Amino acid sequence: MAGSRWLLPAAAAWLLTLFAAQGATVAARAPHDPPLTHGMFAPSSECIACHNSLTAATGEDLSIGIAWRASMMANASRDPYWQASVRRETIDHPMHKADIEDECSICHMPMVRAAAHAGSRKGEVFAHLPLGGEDEVAQLAEDGVSCALCHQITPEGLGTRKSFVGGFVLNTPVGGDPRAMFGPFKADSARQSVMHSVTGARPSEGRHVQQSELCATCHTLITQAFGASGEVIGSIPEQVPYQEWLHSDYKDQRSCQSCHMPRYEQPVRVSSVLGDLREGLSRHTFIGGNFFMLRMLNRFRNELAVAALPGELDASANATIRQLQQDSATLTITRAAAAGGMVELDLDVRNLTGHKLPSGYPSRRVWLHVTLRDAAGRVVFESGAIAPDGSIAGNDGDADANRFEPHYDEITRADQVQIYESVMQDRAGQPTTGLLQAVEFAKDNRLLPRGFDKASAEADIAVHGGALTDRDFSGGGDHVRYRVATGSATGPITVDVELRYQPISFRWAHNLSAYDAAEPKRFVRYFDELAAASSTVLARSTANTQ
Ligand code: HEC
Ligand code: HEC
Ligand code: HEC
Ligand code: HEC
Ligand code: HEC
Repeated sequence: MAGSRWLLPAAAAWLLTLFAAQGATVAARAPHDPPLTHGMFAPSSECIACHNSLTAATGEDLSIGIAWRASMMANASRDPYWQASVRRETIDHPMHKADIEDECSICHMPMVRAAAHAGSRKGEVFAHLPLGGEDEVAQLAEDGVSCALCHQITPEGLGTRKSFVGGFVLNTPVGGDPRAMFGPFKADSARQSVMHSVTGARPSEGRHVQQSELCATCHTLITQAFGASGEVIGSIPEQVPYQEWLHSDYKDQRSCQSCHMPRYEQPVRVSSVLGDLREGLSRHTFIGGNFFMLRMLNRFRNELAVAALPGELDASANATIRQLQQDSATLTITRAAAAGGMVELDLDVRNLTGHKLPSGYPSRRVWLHVTLRDAAGRVVFESGAIAPDGSIAGNDGDADANRFEPHYDEITRADQVQIYESVMQDRAGQPTTGLLQAVEFAKDNRLLPRGFDKASAEADIAVHGGALTDRDFSGGGDHVRYRVATGSATGPITVDVELRYQPISFRWAHNLSAYDAAEPKRFVRYFDELAAASSTVLARSTANTQ
C-alpha cells in the first residue's frame, strides 16, 4: 500500500506545522504528500485532534470526538453481537459466505468496505478480526461509522430507494482537488486551509447533512432471504425507522438529527484549533436505546478493543437510560376498579419517539409488567415479570423458539403478556431470528408514532397480527384492558404497572447458543453474565382500586 495513506505516516512524518491548542497537537502534511488512505478515508484519531476540547460556556464538554467514540455507531464493528450474527449467517448459508461478509460490512465497517469496493474487492469482516491492530486498515476497521464516512456522503440520490441499504454515494474529488468534508457551515478560506493542511481534506458547506435522508441510507435495511440451496426466496424490511418517520407527524417537525444530535444553541467553537464561534453545534452523542450493549462494551472493553474510556461509555449508557425514561413513552392507568372478585384496569401507552417503539433492529422489545397486590402486600396477579436470565415469564417465545406471544387487546390470565415487538418468520411459517431466513412478519405490534395511520401504511411499515384489527392500537399508542380474577383477596388492591424495554431479547440472544463458533459462544456468555440488567423501565404508574 506504498504511499497511499491519509494517516500521517510516522516514518515519513513531514512535521511542517505544529498547532498546539488546549493540549491538542497536530502535524501538517507536506503539500506534495501522495493521496490519502486508498485515496478515501482517515481514521477518527486524525479528526479528533482538532474537534475535541470543545467546551460550552456552562462548562459542559461538547467535544465531538469524545461524544462520538462512546456512541453505538463508533462501536458498530466492535459490537460482539454483530460479530456473532455475521458468523451465524455465514454458518447458515455457507455458499454465500463472501457475499454475507460484504453485506454485513456495508454499514457496520463501512470505511474498509468502501475502500475494498473502490479497489474492486468485496468487503471482508473476519479478516479484520480481532480488532485492535495498529496499522491504518485496522484503525479504519475498528472505527465503525466514523467522521470521514458520514462527512463524505454527498447529496446524490438521498431519499431514493437506491440510497438505502448503505447506498450512499461518497465524494470523489476530481483532479487535484482536496476531499470535501461536508458540514452545515461555510468556513472561510483560512479555516479551510488549517484543516486541509493537516488532513488533506477541506471543510465544505453541504446542508444535506442536516436531512433525515442522510441517516436513512444506513438505517433502511431490506434483507434478502436464502433457501436451503442458496436461492433467493424473498426479502424483509428488517429496519425501516425512516419510512416509519415519513408516515408520522414528525416528518415535518423533527429530523433524526434534531432528536439524536441535540443542538447546543449558544455560540461555540466547533474546532479547538482556529474555530470560529458558531451557533448550533450538534452534539455527536447519537443516543438511541441500546444501553445494554454500551455496558457490555465497557465490561469487556479489553477483549473488544474499545477506544472510549470507561467514564465516557458510562455517561453514554446513562444518557441512554435517561432518554428511555424521559423521552420515549408514557404510561397511564386510566381506570382501576374492583368488583365481585374481579379487577379491571385500563392502561394507555404512548410512544413519544419519531418512529415505532421499539424501532430498528428486530431484537428490541417493549412490554407491560402488571402486578396486583392485596391489602397485606401479597401478589395476587402478575403478568410480564422479568427473570434474572432476561426472559419474560409467560412469554411463549422465550419458553419455545417455535412459538411467540400474540398481541392482546384484553388480558385475563397471568400467562398472557402484552409485548410490543416484531416477530419474523421463515418460508415454512416458523418464527426465526435468522436475518437471512426471514421472509415475513408473523407479528408487528410495535407502538406507532404520533400521526401514523395503520390503514394507509405501505407494506414495508405495516402492522402485522392482532394489532391490525385492534381498534385502539393506533397512531401514538395503544390501549389495553386487564380483567383478572382476584378471588377472595382483600382490597384495596394496589396496582403497579411498568413499561419495560430490552434491546436484546432473550430469544434473540439464545438462538445463537446452537452455533459452535467462537463469536456466538462469546456473545452468549457475555449476555448471560449481564442478563439480569438487560432491561430497563421506560415508564411506571401505580393506583389503588376503590
Ligand atoms: C444498511 C445498513 C446495515 C447493514 C447492511 C447491516 N446492518 Fe446490522 N444494523 C444496522 C443498524 C442501523 C443497526 C442498529 C439499529 C438499532 O440500534 O436498532 C444494526 C444493528 C445490528 C445488530 C444489533 C446490534 C446490537 O448491539 O444490538 C446486529 C446483531 C446486526 N445489526 C447484524 C447485522 C448482520 C448479521 C448483517 C449482515 C447480514 C447486518 N447487520 C447488516 C445497519 C445495518
Ligand atoms: C453518523 C454520521 C456522523 C458521524 C459518524 C460524525 N458526524 Fe459530524 N456531523 C454529522 C451531522 C449530520 C452533522 C450536522 C448536524 C446538523 O447540523 O443538523 C455533523 C456536524 C459536524 C460538525 C459541524 C459542527 C456541528 O456539530 O454541527 C463537525 C465539525 C463534525 N460534524 C465533525 C465530526 C467529527 C470530527 C466526527 C468524528 C469524531 C464526526 N463529525 C462524526 C454526522 C456525523
Ligand atoms: C488542524 C485542525 C483540524 C483537523 C485535524 C480536522 N479539522 Fe475539521 N475543521 C477544522 C476547522 C478549523 C474547521 C472550520 C471551523 C469553523 O468554520 O469554525 C473545521 C470544520 C469541519 C467540519 C464542518 C464543515 C462545515 O463546513 O460545516 C467538518 C464536518 C469537519 N471539520 C470534519 C473533519 C474531519 C472528518 C476530520 C478528520 C478527517 C477533521 N475535520 C480534521 C479543523 C480541523
Ligand atoms: C454508514 C452507515 C450509517 C449512517 C450514515 C448512520 N448510521 Fe446510525 N447506525 C449505524 C449502525 C451500523 C448502527 C448500529 C451499531 C450497532 O448496534 O452495532 C447505528 C446506530 C445508531 C444509533 C444507536 C441505536 C441504539 O440502539 O442505541 C443511533 C441513535 C443512530 N445510529 C442514529 C443515526 C443518525 C441520527 C444518523 C444520521 C445523522 C445515522 N445514524 C447515520 C449506521 C449508520
Ligand atoms: C421525536 C424524536 C425522535 C425522532 C424524530 C427520531 N428519533 Fe430515533 N429515537 C428517539 C428516542 C427517544 C429513542 C429511544 C427509544 C427507542 O429505543 O426507540 C430512539 C431510538 C432510535 C433507535 C434505536 C431503536 C431501538 O428501539 O433500539 C434508532 C436506530 C433510531 N432512533 C433512529 C432514528 C432515525 C433514523 C430517525 C429519523 C428517520 C429517528 N430515529 C428519528 C427519538 C427520535
